[in-house]
Amino acid sequence: MLVRLPGIYPPQEDTWLLAGTLAGENLGSHSRVLDICTGTGVLSLCAAAAGAGHVTAVDMSRRALATTWINALLRRHSVRVMRGNLTEPVRGQLFDVIVSNPPYVPALDDVLPTRGVERAWDAGVDGRMLLDRICLQAPAVLAQSGVLLIAQSVLSGVEKTQAMLEEQGFSVEIADRVEIPFGRVLSARAALFEDRGLIDTGQRTEEIVVIRAVK
Ligand SMILES: C[S@@+](CC[C@H](N)C(=O)[O-])C[C@H]1O[C@@H](n2cnc3c(N)ncnc32)[C@H](O)[C@@H]1O
Repeated sequence: MLVRLPGIYPPQEDTWLLAGTLAGENLGSHSRVLDICTGTGVLSLCAAAAGAGHVTAVDMSRRALATTWINALLRRHSVRVMRGNLTEPVRGQLFDVIVSNPPYVPALDDVLPTRGVERAWDAGVDGRMLLDRICLQAPAVLAQSGVLLIAQSVLSGVEKTQAMLEEQGFSVEIADRVEIPFGRVLSARAALFEDRGLIDTGQRTEEIVVIRAVK
């Protein structure tokens, strides 16, 4: 059972797709894993259960971190929880694997929510406000030969993520992908996405991918 305090993102298809790729990584007792945008902490728990020795979970939301802390305690996993903006709380530290399922849904405007459930998915007009920052910040906290795993929708520009990471010397691949029906949030924005040319008229599915980048 996973505890989830009110307003915290429930693990969904993107979470499980990322968890599947994470399960394929070599996580020994010396490995250091960073989970950026941890939510319930589910990906941190997966890393700890797979044998990672040092797991750090970061989120802006105090309630997400409380949720993660409780979930780790219930499973007797050791997870360090840190509050802050993406990699800021771990500046100067190095990790072997970074995993992130950040907000990536294209929004009405470029104002990022500072509270409420929308903080888990809204990511600016192009859906890239968090993705771009992660692509730029991750290299500084990733050890040599370290692996970065990011989940995102094709609606928020997979090629841009690939290009940004390749420009910084990463070897990049799409590790996994899944086509899923629009949920409540995307259904409510379908007309907006059609107007912007992000989807075909009548399209009500999106593809989620996991990008795997090796430093
Ligand atoms: C899509 S949820 C992912 C939760 C969990 N990792 C999962 O896959 O189920 C995104 C999470 O990012 C957090 N978040 C949003 N902006 C953030 C930021 N700038 N820095 C750290 N966390 C952030 C939200 O609070 C939310 O918990």
